[in-house]
Amino acid sequence: MKASYLVKGPPAHPLHPPLTDLTIGTYGFATVAAILDVANLVGRNAAYAWWIALVVGLCSTALTATSGLVDWLSIEWGSELWKTATAHLSAMLAATGAFLAAALLGHHGYTQGTVSAGAFALTLVGFVLLTTGGWLGGAVVYVHGMRVLNLVSARFEQAAAPTPPEPAESE
Ligand code: HEM
Repeated sequence: MKASYLVKGPPAHPLHPPLTDLTIGTYGFATVAAILDVANLVGRNAAYAWWIALVVGLCSTALTATSGLVDWLSIEWGSELWKTATAHLSAMLAATGAFLAAALLGHHGYTQGTVSAGAFALTLVGFVLLTTGGWLGGAVVYVHGMRVLNLVSARFEQAAAPTPPEPAESE
């Protein structure tokens, strides 16, 4: 097993996608909690949940971005795939900045059990950027086919194995 598999995952099982699920899910939860607070549908608990979820999302972003960076570094500089992946990278960095600013600006409100207007706006901006970045990340995988082996006829035991059936050319 190559040492790089520890940060990028083996060929058939990239590490970045499952980590993105955790990060996007956590930021999505934070956004829903903020909306519930601003709409006055839940008491103080929604504001507490919003801020804690933002912090958890920021922590998981560190792992998600690291695994994405390792894959991004393997792309041919200036290629069409690189352009899509770099747009994805930029959107995700911008989303992270918005969520970080929301957590910092909204900390005082959080201690009072409320989501301030500015922090709420930043959370919504972060979510829009996150969704844009997710769209572009999907294009990297499902349009360009990065890290996809596409072994449609692979046997189940091969497909489920921790190591790939055949090394792909792009790996
Ligand atoms: C908040 C941080 C990030 C999130 C939530 C995220 C999310 C995603 C998503 C949803 C995909 C598509 C995966 C799939 O559906 O199978 C993806 C793919 C990808 N992302 Fe990210 N991403 C993040 C940060 C980054 C960064 C910082 C880079 C580069 C420096 C990057 C590079 C890539 C690459 C190269 C792919 C395609 C190959 C792979 O799966 O690794 N990502 N990302």
